[in-house]
Amino acid sequence: MSNINPNRSFRKQILTHILDWYTNCGRSLPWRQKSDPYRVWLSEVMLQQTQVDTVIPYYLRFLSRFPDIKTLAEAPLGDVLKAWENLGYYRRAHNLHQAAGVIMERFSGRVPETMDDLMALPGVGSYTAAAILSIAFGKAAAAVDSNIRRIICRLFAIAEAPEEPAVQERIAAYAQFLVPTDGRAGSFNQALMDLGATVCTARSPRCDACPIRHACIARAQGKQDVLPLKTKKRAVPQRRGVAGILLDGEGRVLVVQRPKQGLLASLWKFPGGMLEGDESPETGLQRTVKDELGLHVKPEKSVAIIKHAYTHFRLILHVWSCRHGDGSVQALQCQQWKWVSPKNLSGLPFSKADSMVISTLPFLAKKKRNAAGCGKRHAGATAS
Ligand code: ADE
Repeated sequence: MSNINPNRSFRKQILTHILDWYTNCGRSLPWRQKSDPYRVWLSEVMLQQTQVDTVIPYYLRFLSRFPDIKTLAEAPLGDVLKAWENLGYYRRAHNLHQAAGVIMERFSGRVPETMDDLMALPGVGSYTAAAILSIAFGKAAAAVDSNIRRIICRLFAIAEAPEEPAVQERIAAYAQFLVPTDGRAGSFNQALMDLGATVCTARSPRCDACPIRHACIARAQGKQDVLPLKTKKRAVPQRRGVAGILLDGEGRVLVVQRPKQGLLASLWKFPGGMLEGDESPETGLQRTVKDELGLHVKPEKSVAIIKHAYTHFRLILHVWSCRHGDGSVQALQCQQWKWVSPKNLSGLPFSKADSMVISTLPFLAKKKRNAAGCGKRHAGATAS
């Protein structure tokens, strides 16, 4: 079966091998247990930018908290963001929540079944729409993610830059040519997802374990390790930020809700912001807290330096303890602010980097206790 044209019998053989392989070797994943369009939609949104292993516990928790679309639509956004906390790409949670409202209003609570209606939902692009159509409704839509793109490039030995729009169109056309029209499109798409994740991997593909190795043109040409052609990765810039830990007389910490728009919208954070040029954390902290809250602060001590990678930049976050100076707290560049006892911070949604800031708080409280010479007697004071 080497040297093949993409004809009908080639297609049939591929489908038989892939679907058999999926029956025997497909992964058992929680969203595959029940064919409920809401579960399929939720899992596909969570899987958009996140690995399967990371998604599983979030998916299960989210589903027990929001078991159906109505519950999700009626929930406050803050609860949805809390359930999404640390999963990243929080725009997905905003969109999911908004789309649940649209589905309740326009589609009587049912996930729509057409490409156009699905793609009109916030956060649903052509890949997610095709995944939902095929997995939830058995419709013959090819869902081409990066794993599937790699398989198609190898299967048909496509030796052109896969990020080029014309090449993407060719890849999509091959995938659409293969996808079954007999209701098994969901199994086919998920089989390819599993094959890409476990066998036809980006590096060191395990061709001996591949159900379609005999049809693979890249393998026949010994090119499975060089196809698809690698794209040059752009260097990710580094940005510096500063976060201030301000405690009041009762040991409560000042936190701020981010604006409704922009990176990490509506999540909570510590006062502060991004540093400019080679600005020092102390100067930057004073400037950003003044802009954000109209408050003058006096930086005291560097508590931690936190590193976190976002898609478009790497963050180095300087965490400083600081004291109140002049001014009263005003919500100038945030939605709201509040003093919260450390033990209650877990009720608010924070980004990953800010969750790491929270983990420095016990250390800070301990230092304060030691400095005050209060020892254990005072242990609960800052957390009450
Ligand atoms: N990645 C995206 N969708 C997926 C699915 N349904 N199963 C496994 N991995 C996926």
